[in-house]
Amino acid sequence: MLFIVLAAGFGKRMKSNRPKVLHKLVGKPILGWVLCACQKAFDPGQPNRLAVVIHPDMQEAVDYIEGWKKEAGLENVEICFQRERLGSGHAVLMAKEAIDRCEKGESVAILSGDVPFVRPETVRELALCAKELSGAVLTVDNPNPHGYGRIFRDPQGHVERIVEEKDLSPEQRSIREVNAGVYVFEARALSWALDRLDNHNAQGEYYLPQTVEILVRNRGKVAALTINDPVEVSGVNDRCQLVTLDRLMRLRINHRWLAEGVTVIDPENTTIESDVQIGMDTIIQPYCFIAGKTVIGKDCVIGPFSQITDCSIGDGCEIDRSHMRGAKVSKRVRIGPFARIREGTELSEGVSIGDFVELKKTSMGVGSKAHHLSYLGDATIGENVNIGAGTITCNYDGYHKYPTQIGNNAFIGSNTALVAPVSIGEGAIVGAGSVIVENVEKDALALARGQQIQKPGRAAVIRERNKKRP
Ligand code: UD1
Ligand code: MG
Repeated sequence: MLFIVLAAGFGKRMKSNRPKVLHKLVGKPILGWVLCACQKAFDPGQPNRLAVVIHPDMQEAVDYIEGWKKEAGLENVEICFQRERLGSGHAVLMAKEAIDRCEKGESVAILSGDVPFVRPETVRELALCAKELSGAVLTVDNPNPHGYGRIFRDPQGHVERIVEEKDLSPEQRSIREVNAGVYVFEARALSWALDRLDNHNAQGEYYLPQTVEILVRNRGKVAALTINDPVEVSGVNDRCQLVTLDRLMRLRINHRWLAEGVTVIDPENTTIESDVQIGMDTIIQPYCFIAGKTVIGKDCVIGPFSQITDCSIGDGCEIDRSHMRGAKVSKRVRIGPFARIREGTELSEGVSIGDFVELKKTSMGVGSKAHHLSYLGDATIGENVNIGAGTITCNYDGYHKYPTQIGNNAFIGSNTALVAPVSIGEGAIVGAGSVIVENVEKDALALARGQQIQKPGRAAVIRERNKKRP
């Protein structure tokens, strides 16, 4: 089966410098939703191919498609360029070579790159409707049909043709059955009809929907599959439609998690991207953004305003108002409030990270703690280590990054600067306020700060002197 995605359109109404299809809905580009729907609709019994039609100016779209293809592990994805935007029918013509490589009887599904939420099951059902016929078109009964192509049926109810808004007479405008912009055709029939398209219409464009009329006039049969859900076939043409669909999809995802046993306290104000996984009995509090390939275990509490991207989080963790990206966290870890956990961080079971602590590429062993105001970067920290408030690993000299090692059971006093590369032995104690530039041995006490001086009665003398000053 061949899938063609039409995405060369300009998207003028978005008022944007980037292609419309790369604007995001719940974290994924509009085009990404359509490509994923195609992949999920692949016919398991056959080889499947995908062709995406874009404009040559859309380099960002080329990069996105190449990246998607690699991640999806697909070989048969090609990009076809439409140099002049002469209409949706003309766009399909740009994939003509791919269509002509199809076997006789093979199905060609055509989807619009700006209709993101078509379900793969619907595409498959449409392909079944098209079997043994020239094609099938997806339609929806839309109480507000303005702007869509309308479906005309003969007295027996068979689809005859599709007429675009601008070509309708005033009385025809009341027709509510509209073209959803998703089609399946038999490859040879499509190829034959494409060669016969004309642009004799109000917009002077080669309309893809005209293929339906051409096929039916030549004794072909085109079925219609009518669905009830207008969201599934809503297009994105401006930013208002973008945020409306974003909200609807966010709610759908959040309600799915509610059904799976995850408490999403405020579904309206929580974003969980589509590839995220969450275990049972986890609670997600309001205003969280959980993104990318994040996996969250069971029985966790994700406190409000947390942003978590591409992390894996074990069972029973508590995360409060924190930013996390690219981190791996074991079971029963506590983070936050106001912590920043960055790429390459690995936290073992029972680790506890408090407020205003930043971790980058740092691992911490079982039961270790850093409770207040620290930066720990490029550090390997053992088990049961206490990092005092205000401890900083000085890992950068302006040119290179250097590692810090801290052994099991070590105790780092508050306000310590660990000038890397440096290592602190197991069980060592570093006195508060130290600037540590040399390695500290196992079980040693290291003090690296000015000696304290005490002058008895001197404070009272200073006070008296200051009082007398004018
Ligand atoms: C289209 C249909 C309309 C249907 C509606 C559903 C046509 C002529 N009309 O209208 O019947 O009700 O979708 O959403 O197809 N494209 C190109 N190159 C072009 C023109 C369009 O690649 O030269 C692509 C667009 O990027 C888009 C798709 O084709 O993905 C549809 O084009 P668009 O201009 O959005 O058509 P609509 O007015 O939405
Ligand atoms: Mg459109």
